Amino acid sequence: MTSIGANRRHWNSISRDYQAEHDPQIGAAPRLWGMFSIPDTQLDALGDVAGKRLLELGCGAGQWSGSLAAEGTRVVGLDLSEVQLAAAAERMSNRARFPLVQGAAEHLPFAPASFDVVFCDHGGLSWAPPRLAIPEVARVLRPAGRVVFTVTSPWNEVCYDDSTDRVTAQLRRDYFGLAAASEDADGATSYQLGYGDWIRVLRGAGLVVEDLIEPRPDSGAHSGYLETDPPDWARRWPAEMLWIACKPWPSARTVP
Ligand SMILES: C[S@@+](CC[C@H](N)C(=O)[O-])C[C@H]1O[C@@H](n2cnc3c(N)ncnc32)[C@H](O)[C@@H]1O
Repeated sequence: MTSIGANRRHWNSISRDYQAEHDPQIGAAPRLWGMFSIPDTQLDALGDVAGKRLLELGCGAGQWSGSLAAEGTRVVGLDLSEVQLAAAAERMSNRARFPLVQGAAEHLPFAPASFDVVFCDHGGLSWAPPRLAIPEVARVLRPAGRVVFTVTSPWNEVCYDDSTDRVTAQLRRDYFGLAAASEDADGATSYQLGYGDWIRVLRGAGLVVEDLIEPRPDSGAHSGYLETDPPDWARRWPAEMLWIACKPWPSARTVP
């Protein structure tokens, strides 16, 4: 069963409200990561990408790609939802421009080895099955290319209280078996893996894990996405994971 159609309808239907609520936070400054908008300068995750060709996988309204385009970086924004892409097109009308492509992380419409960096911030790697999307990422990366992405952490999922819609200090569901989560009654689905499964999926696609950053917000930092109990929950436990993996050069063949 594919969730592509349901996720496209879901994001088409929520895009307008989502951007009205979240654009002021995620578009407030260049290169902000995650639910607490931590600057890349603090996390050093994407870093220097001058001269590289980048793909944002699930770019939404393009807040991230727009800030990279403004730096002069060659970036392509891909998203499943035409309404999200329309929001990106509208947003760039008085800003730096970059190409937008409609497509699914499960079947990327690009030739092998097209990009030096594939990245997303709670984008296509949260909304497509990682076992399908990560091999696609590996395919479109050039040797020595990197994938850099945030997803929610297993801590967040396991401690989430559905009745109050907040993350708590209690373990409320099993860690083993984290997989697909229903996002609406029409079949929209997001995906979550445990630590070991993420490593196996990345390594299985031939990628080498370079880092797992666990972004820690400053004391008193506000998230427009996450209610927590206690309020400083995300200072005590990691709410997100920021993975960095690299595509190695093919091994050199020894000539007898
Ligand atoms: C939470 S937004 C991430 C965008 C931006 N970083 C933000 O925080 O708003 C998730 C995006 O993933 C897109 N998306 C959902 N399923 C996808 C898929 N299978 N392939 C590519 N993008 C997808 C949605 O349309 C949406 O724009």
